Amino acid sequence: MRKQGNISNELKITLPAIGENEGICRAMVGAFVSRMNPTIEELADIKCAVSEAVTNCIVHAYRGLASPEYGDIYILVTCYRDGRVKITVRDSGCGIPDIAAARTPLFTTAPEEERSGMGFSVMENFTDKLIVSSKVGHGTKVTMIKKLRM
Ligand SMILES: Nc1ncnc2c1ncn2[C@@H]1O[C@H](COP(=O)(O)OP(=O)(O)OP(=O)(O)O)[C@@H](O)[C@H]1O
Ligand SMILES: [Mg+2]
Repeated sequence: MRKQGNISNELKITLPAIGENEGICRAMVGAFVSRMNPTIEELADIKCAVSEAVTNCIVHAYRGLASPEYGDIYILVTCYRDGRVKITVRDSGCGIPDIAAARTPLFTTAPEEERSGMGFSVMENFTDKLIVSSKVGHGTKVTMIKKLRM
């Protein structure tokens, strides 16, 4: 049992970190947040930010795991009555040794895969707040907060 308080709704998703789930996460979070009546632009921003965070779980977090093994992506979306949306995208993968470096625009550890190193910059620019925490060997958690104009 728990109290709703300032929270109007909450969504939890756990799914395998495999390519096809990037679009599924994007669509699921988008559909859920739509109920808060965001503008088209706000909704597009949220979907892009989620897509970058989820893609990072898929391409970086579980690097080294060979199919058919896979890790999981854990998403928590919390909608607040004041119009804030908090989205947490977490993995239990390899972790990031230097978060400040990883957040630098154009920084990528996968240039040979044509990664541009812009994922964190997109998350930062398309939301109001981005918090990244990570522990090497344990995983990474990305928290994004977006304030919807209401
Ligand atoms: N979930 C994660 N687990 C492990 N490492 C990560 C994770 N997310 C990001 N990283 C590391 O941070 C770097 C920067 O991430 P960012 O999303 O900004 O760029 P990118 O993924 O390399 O390129 P792009 O997002 O433009 O395709 C990555 O290259 C990777 O080394
Ligand atoms: Mg990326």
